[in-house]
Amino acid sequence: MHTFRDYYKNLVTLSFEDHPFSEQPKHILVICEYNGEWLLTKHSDRGLEFPGGKVEPGETAKQAAVREVHEETGGIVNAIQYIGQYVVEGKAETVFKNVYYATITRLETQSTYFETEGPVLRKELPKDMKVDQNFSFIMKDEIVPRSIEQITRTIKSI
Ligand code: GTP
Repeated sequence: MHTFRDYYKNLVTLSFEDHPFSEQPKHILVICEYNGEWLLTKHSDRGLEFPGGKVEPGETAKQAAVREVHEETGGIVNAIQYIGQYVVEGKAETVFKNVYYATITRLETQSTYFETEGPVLRKELPKDMKVDQNFSFIMKDEIVPRSIEQITRTIKSI
């Protein structure tokens, strides 16, 4: 379990246990890999980030993850795996979010990428992501680096 403050000084707790905080979280974040590169999306307001969003009524969190990847990047998910879950104690509300790791088979060109400008591929994430104006605030705390460490330990090393 890791507890830290995010970009907005909200308290965040991350765990790699199986759904430790909520059985049915309403938010998801998907760490995507395509062809040996990280697949991000460029959110129109927030900037570069991994795809993600809210679970819609009647959907499981995993289904929402596959849908959001497609909507925001055109990416077709090959395999997707639960990695962990985090809680953000925001000023107005508490957000529960599942983190997934997905590998992508191909990118389909879309007529809309919803609130984003579509797919962005990066061989590496910058070391100075915390202060890089191009990146979204959700990329500026410990969630992404710790989740990638966990992916490397548990999946990519196999
Ligand atoms: P809309 O209802 O779509 O307008 O979304 P929103 O802007 O109300 O945000 P959302 O419900 O997704 O999240 C509410 C608050 O939780 C945000 O303003 C953030 O402070 C925080 N939050 C949401 N997701 C994350 C995240 O992945 N990381 C961090 N650190 N904070 C988050």
